[in-house]
Amino acid sequence: GIEIKSLLARTGAVTLDPGFANTASCSSAITYIDGEAGILRYRGYPIEQLAEQSNFLEVCYLLIYGQLPTAAQYAEFTGKISRHTLLHEDLKRFFDGFPRDAHPMPVLASAVSALSTFYQASLNPFDEPNVDLSTVRLLAKLPTLAAYAYKKSIGQPFLYPDNALGLVENFLRMTFGLPAEQYEPDPDVARALDLLFLLHADHEQNCSTSTVRMVGSAQANLFASVSAGINALFGPLHGGANAAVLDMLEEINTTGVDVAQFVRKVKGQHDGVRLMGFGHRVYRHYDPRATIVKRTADALIARLAPDDPLLGIAKDLEETALSDDYFIERRLYPNVDFYTGLIYRAMGFPTDFFTVLFAIGRLPGWIAHYREMINDPATKIGRPRQVYTGATVRDFTPLGER
Ligand code: ACO
Repeated sequence: GIEIKSLLARTGAVTLDPGFANTASCSSAITYIDGEAGILRYRGYPIEQLAEQSNFLEVCYLLIYGQLPTAAQYAEFTGKISRHTLLHEDLKRFFDGFPRDAHPMPVLASAVSALSTFYQASLNPFDEPNVDLSTVRLLAKLPTLAAYAYKKSIGQPFLYPDNALGLVENFLRMTFGLPAEQYEPDPDVARALDLLFLLHADHEQNCSTSTVRMVGSAQANLFASVSAGINALFGPLHGGANAAVLDMLEEINTTGVDVAQFVRKVKGQHDGVRLMGFGHRVYRHYDPRATIVKRTADALIARLAPDDPLLGIAKDLEETALSDDYFIERRLYPNVDFYTGLIYRAMGFPTDFFTVLFAIGRLPGWIAHYREMINDPATKIGRPRQVYTGATVRDFTPLGER
């Protein structure tokens, strides 16, 4: 490897790999994916075992610190997070500056960026105690910021966090509660949301995580780097896909188009129509997260929204696609987001908010990668090369002569 590297440096040779489909940007010990076999592991633990036996905050600890916490470590970690959920009062006023119908993703990214101004701007961003404190602050405050972005969009007052509640229960209360009313989070909803956060917690070098690492490689602080990650996640080919699936199901429902006909249209690629929530760059097999999400969707929607026609449409679509040669040949299977939108909808979240939920879930992965990157002696500032295709040298003509 080293010989090739120095040869490349001497000759100035570069590789061109659009979308980095075959180029590793770093080595990492956080998440393992075998896309051919449909395997996903966080720090070596199979996603199925974590989904069954762990919870989101324990997985946050695992991803960030590399080991499952002891009982004492878990208590200290969760205790610290619950003490940092409050926002500075001045930061609360920040939300007043946005239009009422602002999409909550850019609001969230801006608010996270603004956290630098409260906590970090003049400190060494890579200083360990500093990174530790920023880690806790982000994990604690992102649900509060997300809930306030929602409250702002519906014109309701903000609720202070209640530190006696768990992270997910607190988030549900700040999102759906009202100041004058007692809010009891539904335990099934809280458990399901915790599970969905856990399933989104990391997915190695996806677009937003690579962005966090790239921005952080310039020694930008954790808040600035995560804010950049949130903006990357906003894109419909990435985190925005969960909302796009729901739009697709709703369109099928309202237009009354037959599912088989819709799949035929997708196959014909008319108007570039795709089966949203299907296909993945890495998985050429059923996404292991999708299997778990589907079970949760079945159980929760049967209880919360038994009359929702969209679940039936989704299942029809899946069955039709999975037995169709087009999808079989291209090895296109449902990805994690094929069923998540249906669950979020049954929980009462508006479609615009789905990607915000993805961001809360993905946060520990972003943090873990940032920390791994700053502690890796091989890290260099991210600075890809290019293959120049522009004009060769030209002589300048003054404006009056053009
Ligand atoms: N519906 C119909 N056809 C598809 C789909 C789909 N969802 N996905 C891929 N294909 C077809 C392509 O047209 C292509 O066919 P061809 O070989 O005849 O040209 C073939 O399958 C390979 O597809 P690519 O676009 O080359 O695959 P790539 O790895 O670049 O894209 C992606 C992966 C972006 C996820 C793609 O499958 C897609 O657009 N899916 C729908 C959007 C989606 O669900 N995104 C969420 C991803 S998961 C996440 O971020 C949480």
